[in-house]
Amino acid sequence: MTHDYIEDELSRQSVFKSEQLLSIDYVPEKLPHRESELKVLAQSFKTLITSPGRTSQKFIIEGPVGTGKTAVTKRFADQMIQAAERRGIRLHKLHINCRVSKSAYLVYLRILKEFKPKFPRRGHSPEELLQMVVEVLDEEDRYLLLMLDELDYFIRQRGADILYDLTRLMDDRLNAPQRLSIIGIGRKVSLSEDILDSSTLSTLQRNILRFEQYSSEALYDILKERSDMAFEENTVMDETLQLICDIASDRGDARYAIELLWRAGKQADSINSRKVIPDYARKAKADTHPELRKEIFTTLPKQNSLLLLAAARQLKENRGAYITMGELEEMYQSVCEEYNEEPRAHTQVWEWVQDLNSHGLVDTKRSGVGQRGQTTLIGLSDVPAELLEHYLLELLGR
Ligand SMILES: Nc1ncnc2c1ncn2[C@@H]1O[C@H](COP(=O)(O)OP(=O)(O)OP(=O)(O)O)[C@@H](O)[C@H]1O
Ligand SMILES: [Mg+2]
Repeated sequence: MTHDYIEDELSRQSVFKSEQLLSIDYVPEKLPHRESELKVLAQSFKTLITSPGRTSQKFIIEGPVGTGKTAVTKRFADQMIQAAERRGIRLHKLHINCRVSKSAYLVYLRILKEFKPKFPRRGHSPEELLQMVVEVLDEEDRYLLLMLDELDYFIRQRGADILYDLTRLMDDRLNAPQRLSIIGIGRKVSLSEDILDSSTLSTLQRNILRFEQYSSEALYDILKERSDMAFEENTVMDETLQLICDIASDRGDARYAIELLWRAGKQADSINSRKVIPDYARKAKADTHPELRKEIFTTLPKQNSLLLLAAARQLKENRGAYITMGELEEMYQSVCEEYNEEPRAHTQVWEWVQDLNSHGLVDTKRSGVGQRGQTTLIGLSDVPAELLEHYLLELLGR
């Protein structure tokens, strides 16, 4: 009789109870070690509920990778909406990832579409869109709590005009209801006189909330709670959690800690083990890197992933710190062939390199004269080439 792989797979036991609770976009109900940050936000934004329309709040949340900025902001916005609903206030929340909506036009369009889903994609200037946003909020008597996530990325690419325009928008309406409040989120949101006028700057500087890295103990509390929810009882050894916290506490990064836990669980499942032992966490550490953030990769177009794969391969082959643009393009052509994709022309590839650079995925620099002629050199930021290659292959489904 032939072996029934499907029945095999179906009867397989898993250490996970609810694996999705370890996914990147799950926001847990409770956020240990961020109570005081939630309280600061609640204090600052409560006027949106006590006297809607009176003020417009603007806040910046800053802090290193995986310190809970996105999770806390989303949880906070949910609670604000619930409190508003209980009081019959038409407060609406909208989380925009500025890596996806990469221009002011796309951000405004995203806001408008929230209220007018059929609004056409083309045919209006950003200023017109913004004006229509105000109109729709007025017409429908709504208030909007706008979360602009990954704003640092946006500002690096496009400057801070968007902040200026959005803050001005409400400041210019002294006698009309203030309908828009903003929370800008990023690792390091550069605010300076060169990019912002002094009044916007001073408003924002007064309202910066900094998230610090998590200590190993804090990571433990976070991980323990998540592991109890996501895993079957008595599957994850306490030593495994401890080890993961030690590994991740170098950066104080909860995302990395959760990813290690998930990978350790996958490792247990792959060999049909009912215990998640510390060794699986060690293995998980060898398979990934904190800079390999799924959020970035899942929003990266396939062609960009292929280009990055080419960079990783060429760097692995050369064993040097940098490769030239020419070497990269050559490898890119062969990667495209492998994936049956039409390679794009030089100017497009060049633009993508800049894009990958501002995502922090590659490093670029000009070579010194005489080295290999004047050319752009490309290196990887922090991740070993082999690991990146491995990760991309996993992602591209090979
Ligand atoms: N205090 C916490 N309690 C429980 N889970 C947390 C906590 N802080 C962060 N997490 C979890 O860790 C992961 C990373 O958090 P989050 O995405 O909010 O980080 P971030 O600061 O936005 O990072 P980045 O700068 O990379 O965007 C998420 O899965 C989140 O649910
Ligand atoms: Mg985030």
